[in-house]
Amino acid sequence: MRRSGWIAVVVLGSGIAAYAVAVLLLPNFGPPFVAKIRAHLVIPLSMHLAGGALALAVGAWQLNSRLRQRQPLVHRWLGRLYVVAVVTGALGAGILAPGSQEGIVTHLGFGSLAIAWLGTTIAGYRAVRRRDLISHRCWMLRSYALTFAAVMLRVYLPLSQIVGLPFGPSYQVISWLCWVPNLLVVEMLVIQRPRVVPIEAAT
Ligand code: HEM
Repeated sequence: MRRSGWIAVVVLGSGIAAYAVAVLLLPNFGPPFVAKIRAHLVIPLSMHLAGGALALAVGAWQLNSRLRQRQPLVHRWLGRLYVVAVVTGALGAGILAPGSQEGIVTHLGFGSLAIAWLGTTIAGYRAVRRRDLISHRCWMLRSYALTFAAVMLRVYLPLSQIVGLPFGPSYQVISWLCWVPNLLVVEMLVIQRPRVVPIEAAT
């Protein structure tokens, strides 16, 4: 990843993280359906928003090769924070997914995303515990590609509304579109260049 690409990831990730913090802290902020979730599922929602926001903001810095090389201790502690954030966010998401808007298609889309988010992150953590750094990097790239679904969802959804698509079917498609292509892109990078994939933000 070139420096400009990494900066774009930091800016977009931090922007959506700030949005999630606002939904978490401001009682009347966010789309109308969030008010219903607040009324019934405030703990899973809070876990999801706090964990998701932290994962999105912290994870972007983990992609910076200069930071990794010069401050390995910072990378290690941010990494631990990222894992705790994803576990918290994914558990919350797993509870929210079966009640998501627009039925079984989004339940499965968001539910599969929550499982894959948790699974890739735990795999990345286990890899680094056994000192398998290449595998660690590949799994953590997959994990952050899934964290970044939060950004892509909030790109695709307004675009679908701007071009006049009906909300229901769009939301169903986007519950998959926000993460499957992210994962495919990372998978292509991992297959092509397993050793050098991560990440040349410092160039
Ligand atoms: C990657 C795995 C994720 C999954 C499976 C997931 C799943 C969900 C689900 C099911 C909902 C409720 C939607 C509905 O009821 O229709 C939701 C809402 C929400 N999520 Fe996530 N999410 C994920 C990541 C994130 C991340 C990383 C953030 C961080 C910014 C985030 C921020 C939000 C916000 C702010 C809402 C409230 C709705 C809104 O204002 O758009 N999510 N999420």
